[in-house]
Parts: sequence; C-alpha cells; structure tokens
Amino acid sequence: MNHDRSLVNATRAAARVALVTCTDLPDLDEDDRALIPALAARGIAAEPVAWDAAGADWAGYDLAVVRNTWDYAKRRAEFIAWARSVPRLANPAAVIEWNTDKRYLRQLAEAGIPIVPTTWVEPGDAFVPEGTGEIVIKPAVSAGSIDTGRYDLGSQAALAAEQVRRLQEAGRLVMIQPYLDAVDTAGETALLHFDGEFSHAIRKGAILTGPYVEGDLLYQNENISPRTPSDEERALAARVLEALPVPAGELLYARVDLLPSPDGPVVIEVELAEPSLFFGHAEGSAERFAAAVERRLSRG
Ligand SMILES: Nc1ncnc2c1ncn2[C@@H]1O[C@H](COP(=O)(O)OP(=O)(O)O)[C@@H](O)[C@H]1O
Ligand SMILES: [Mg+2]
Repeated sequence: MNHDRSLVNATRAAARVALVTCTDLPDLDEDDRALIPALAARGIAAEPVAWDAAGADWAGYDLAVVRNTWDYAKRRAEFIAWARSVPRLANPAAVIEWNTDKRYLRQLAEAGIPIVPTTWVEPGDAFVPEGTGEIVIKPAVSAGSIDTGRYDLGSQAALAAEQVRRLQEAGRLVMIQPYLDAVDTAGETALLHFDGEFSHAIRKGAILTGPYVEGDLLYQNENISPRTPSDEERALAARVLEALPVPAGELLYARVDLLPSPDGPVVIEVELAEPSLFFGHAEGSAERFAAAVERRLSRG
C-alpha cells in the first residue's frame, strides 16, 4: 500500500557516509567540507573520520569515501591494511594499493600512454647525475609534493646525488625526470572524473622552486584556478581511463594530471586514492559528486 511505503521511507534511517581524513585535518580540508551539505541535501549524513582513528566503526557506515588521507606515504603498508579492512570503501582497496605507488606509471607507459620520461632508481642502484639541465627527484610513494625537489645539474649535481641517496637509504624507489619547464607558464592540468564521466578541470601552477628542503609539511601550497582542457588533454585523459586496471565507471573519482611537454601533454600522475577534487573551482561539482555517492548507495 502506498500509505505504508511512504511511512517506511519517512522512518528509514539516513544513509551514513564517512569522509575519510587524517588526524592532522580532523574536520577535513576546506574544499572537501563542501561535501557535507551537498550530501545532506540528498538525505545522506556525512562525517569526517580519520583513517587511523582508534575505535572507528567502519562497518557502521554505508560507504567510506577516502578524501584527505595525506599522511599515508610513510605508512603505506598500514594504510593499505586499513583500506582492506573497511567493508565498503571508495575507491576500492585494490585500486588504492595500485595507485599509491607510482610504479603504475610504467604499466600505463607499456599500454602506450605518454608519461613524463622517468628513470627509476631502486634503493640498491648506483646513481650518478649526468647531463645538463634541470631534473626532478621524487619518491615513487609520495603525495602533496613532499620529498620532491628540482635540481640544476650544472650547479646542484652534488645536492641531487645526496637527495637520491637520502631516499634510497629510507628504502624508497626514486624517480628521476627532466623538469618539464612549460609548467612554469602553462601550468599542470588536472581532469576530474566521477563514475568515469568527466566533471571539470583545473590548472595548477608550477610548484617546485628548487632542491628539497627538510620540513614537516603535509602538502605544498598550490595555486589553483579553473581550466578548460584542450581537446588533446581530454582525449589523453579518456585513454588513461581506458588503460586502468578496473573499468573507470567503477571508480567514484579519478583524476588525471597532465604536464605540457614539447611532444604534447604527458601524464605526470593518475590520482585514484586521495586526490583533491577542487570543488571550490567548479560550480556544481560537489553536487555531481554527491549524486555519484547517492548512486553507489542505492546500488547497495
Ligand atoms: N618532471 C616534472 N617537471 C616539472 N614539474 C614537476 C615534475 N615532476 C613533478 N613536478 C612538480 O611537482 C609536483 C608534485 O609532483 P607529482 O609527481 O604530482 O607528485 P605528488 O604525488 O606529490 O603530487 C607537480 O604538481 C609539479 O608541479
Ligand atoms: Mg601531483
């Protein structure tokens, strides 16, 4: 009976969603806080929970959405074990595991995707800086530009070698890339997709000014503005989504980050774990994301 059904709807408990953060950002990053009213407008009660919060009841949520877990780089094994323990997680734990180590770029390159040219230096490998020009040194497991530096081989080769050694001594796989200096003027382009559908894009200004300096940051400051991606960038992002190990339609969110190069756009990284989604730079994007969460909840 209609009457009964409306009664059931009226009394059904609101869906509960955890927006997963880290202890340093207990109330989420400002941008992600926009999700709370956007989800509330759809009758979904969302609250921030740190991934390593003692006593968090993950099974008590209809969905846990990974958002601001930016402290995982030094505790990746613990983070992945946590992800595997959460019954309903977006994106799924296997995707988070694949995506939190930039070795996945090698797989994309093998699938024919143009990536930033990269030399991989294992902890036991010898590294002798050669050539001229500027390079970037970064660990394969990193977020927020932490532990990442830019070196002019003409004058900073010794510093570069020291930074590689420092990362190697910490047991980390090191990535060496040419500094793609078109980023200084054109910036980096991040293309955001929800459920595999393009939502919006942003421009991120260049971040690296020089060698790595020791600090205790969670992430480097970023200069963000709205961007309309070129057709070439849209097409490359679509190819990247096709090359992922899971169908892009199964991913609540997927961010494809591109740098300009002399040969056209190249992939610097794909963010499927904890990307900033830049809701504040694209009208309606938090609502589109909330709609994607709602679809997931209704699928059960
Ligand atoms: N090869 C490169 N050329 C120019 N800039 C780079 C390069 N690699 C990294 N950067 C700069 O460093 C930032 C962080 O590097 P990225 O690979 O995106 O790692 P993270 O996972 O820390 O975001 C980028 O947003 C970009 O500004
Ligand atoms: Mg990045």
